[in-house]
Amino acid sequence: MTIIHISAECYPVAKVGGLADVVGALPKYQKSSEDNSQVIMPFYDNKFTKENAFTTVYSNNVTLGNNLIGFNVLTLTEKPLDFDVFFIDIPDLLFREYVYSSDDTERFLAFQIAALDWLLTWDNYPDIIHCHDHHTGLIPFMLQESYKYEAFRKIPNIVTIHNAQYQGWFSHLKVGLIPPFNFDHVGLLDWGGTINPLASAIKCAWHVTTVSPSYMEELKLAANGLESLLSAESDKCSGILNGIDTDVWNPETDYYIEANYNIKTVKAGAEANKKFLCDTFNLDFEKPLFAFIGRLVGEKGSDLFPEVFKEALDNNNLNILLLGSGNDFVEQQLETLKKDYIGTYNAFIGYDEKLSHIIYAGADFLLMPSRVEPCGLNQMYALRYGTIPIVRSIGGLKDTVTDISEENGFGICHNNVTISEITNAINRGVTLYKNQKKYKKTRNTIMEIDHSWHVSAAEYKNLYKSIN
Ligand code: ADP
Ligand code: GLC
Repeated sequence: MTIIHISAECYPVAKVGGLADVVGALPKYQKSSEDNSQVIMPFYDNKFTKENAFTTVYSNNVTLGNNLIGFNVLTLTEKPLDFDVFFIDIPDLLFREYVYSSDDTERFLAFQIAALDWLLTWDNYPDIIHCHDHHTGLIPFMLQESYKYEAFRKIPNIVTIHNAQYQGWFSHLKVGLIPPFNFDHVGLLDWGGTINPLASAIKCAWHVTTVSPSYMEELKLAANGLESLLSAESDKCSGILNGIDTDVWNPETDYYIEANYNIKTVKAGAEANKKFLCDTFNLDFEKPLFAFIGRLVGEKGSDLFPEVFKEALDNNNLNILLLGSGNDFVEQQLETLKKDYIGTYNAFIGYDEKLSHIIYAGADFLLMPSRVEPCGLNQMYALRYGTIPIVRSIGGLKDTVTDISEENGFGICHNNVTISEITNAINRGVTLYKNQKKYKKTRNTIMEIDHSWHVSAAEYKNLYKSIN
């Protein structure tokens, strides 16, 4: 079976968040003697594209409304990745330093059309087209409705929703950008009076998945306006939990971290990484280290951090270290806080892949008080590195972390995103840390939990077979 993933992000080429990690790992675990799995993504102007050489395998023009825009399909000249990646190079639209920008309607429409135009030239069409999020959400519609893709009508396609908050809305005034189709079916593009690529994907895809089973259920109740659509289409919807790439995220071999370790050497290994963090960020090695890594947005509960951190630091013997960026006001508050808690609090505002790995390795607890968490990968990385997750029980966090008070529990869970519940959860962490015997036993337990992609890759395979 040939599987084609079409996505805006793919690690290590371009990453904004977990979407990249998933698309950068799943194809690797899908490849077998029977199956080939490949990725089509945009060609951005970033570190990866600067540092690698590319070969053009196809060139043509893409029609976007009345405009003809030149595009190339590129591959890596040498093959440093574990699966094939094809890059759609549209210099005027896609070749930017950032993955997302204000003209994403045109950018990602041109990307999707160019990708399909190129696939039309293949001798053997793929067996599955797997789209990810709204950036590729118009593909199921085009496969089904656009005259020029008539040859693709029988190719099963699925869409995976990584985050339903963002839907890619644009005005019907731009409908002419979509390759011609029977206008009687324009309703398949619409939700609430605008063109909604995610809604269209839910209507037209052969199957819809979310990145955890709980998130699928939650979306039927809160999906930023798509609740009734997801309920109506529930027969073709299911949740498949993400895995993690255990080659990249392995404390024993991770080249980013200060000291490698496994379950037998975790004490010394984790301590060496913690020491590095404490030296670098002026923190107190003797106190437990609570960390956060992620986007500073409402979904992650980050607007509550300034108050939560004050409360926790005033009342407890602990350190807090944050790595993230996002909302300007929150960033500014987190910066301001530094001067009041010198020696126990610090924040790195920005994006730093290496530092994130060291934090997973060196922190004692990882905070994830998310309001919405479709899956969440951070908690699974933390588990593998022996860092105890403190999570709000929602979405994928609910599916992967069991509270330590329950049978076989290992994490700290809370039900609501309030200052008092988050600080209370932190206090529970401090108490656990004081009981070093229990803390270490828990650390060993979590390092053995298997969240590798094998299980989920098998679930995707069963799904592909069932719709083929
Ligand atoms: P989301 O995709 O919603 O941001 P996930 O938990 O699925 O959340 O994945 C986030 C990914 O991005 C993880 O690999 C995490 O380590 C990484 N990440 C997020 N923010 C940063 C940052 N500021 N620096 C480095 N890595 C980050
Ligand atoms: C999204 C979600 C996150 C998920 C990731 C990968 O960014 O916010 O919860 O882990 O996609 O599927």
